[in-house]
Amino acid sequence: MKPSSSISNASTKVGVFDSGAGGLTVVKSLVAHRLFDEIIYYGDTARVPYGPKDPATITRYALEALEFFKNFDIDLLITACNSVSAHALPELRANANFPVYGVIEPGIMALKNRHLSPESRILVLGTRATIGSGRYKSGIAKLGFTNIEALAPSLLVPIVEEGLFDGPVLQSTLHHYFKDLQPPDAIILGCTHFPLIADAIGNYFPNTPLLIHSGEAIAEYLQSHGYPAQAHPEIRLEIFASENPDGLKKIAQKWINY
Ligand code: DGL
Repeated sequence: MKPSSSISNASTKVGVFDSGAGGLTVVKSLVAHRLFDEIIYYGDTARVPYGPKDPATITRYALEALEFFKNFDIDLLITACNSVSAHALPELRANANFPVYGVIEPGIMALKNRHLSPESRILVLGTRATIGSGRYKSGIAKLGFTNIEALAPSLLVPIVEEGLFDGPVLQSTLHHYFKDLQPPDAIILGCTHFPLIADAIGNYFPNTPLLIHSGEAIAEYLQSHGYPAQAHPEIRLEIFASENPDGLKKIAQKWINY
């Protein structure tokens, strides 16, 4: 294992794992901050979505993905998928010979770094698996926040997959989930798909809340763990999938302009 403290702007190869295409939103942030020079992305497109699955199944799938990454001599692995981050990190860490980072702890740290008052209203959005784990809620409560709402707006995942980043279907779905909420001060976008509809989510509320995005949060977190920003001018991204890799590459062109 290469300890993260020994890594500066030396060549670094990162594995990024997601249940499907959503983790490309995390890749986008890693590329923007130029933290690594090589990114190996693996999306389990054959078995997406993970959000409705139970913790044991998510952990089993994540361990299978880990075997895939063992072929690549990666320096670290990021589980871009919040549902995997919520349930499979201990098992992944126990079975990997490189550091494994999830996105939940970084999301909580990003909220902490915004220095909001403890009575601020915090809304966490994620899949059923993520929200059911209670990980965000308990981590945010430990920061001293007392007004936390956690919600699983499951229909938003297929809506994003359909490319409906705005328009009546998205708006009525947001209304369906948000209509009874008190306007939040901050929203954790605790699902890989939600950054793609961040504008619509933020603008639903009268005073656009602060939005915390898993990709930006993990980029910020890694910078404080020995991976400096802007360290790699050239970045190589390789995309793999358990089903239809060409389809995933097309989504990468559309979503992150790769
Ligand atoms: N990648 C998942 C997450 O961030 C969303 C899609 C899914 O349910 O697999 O939790």
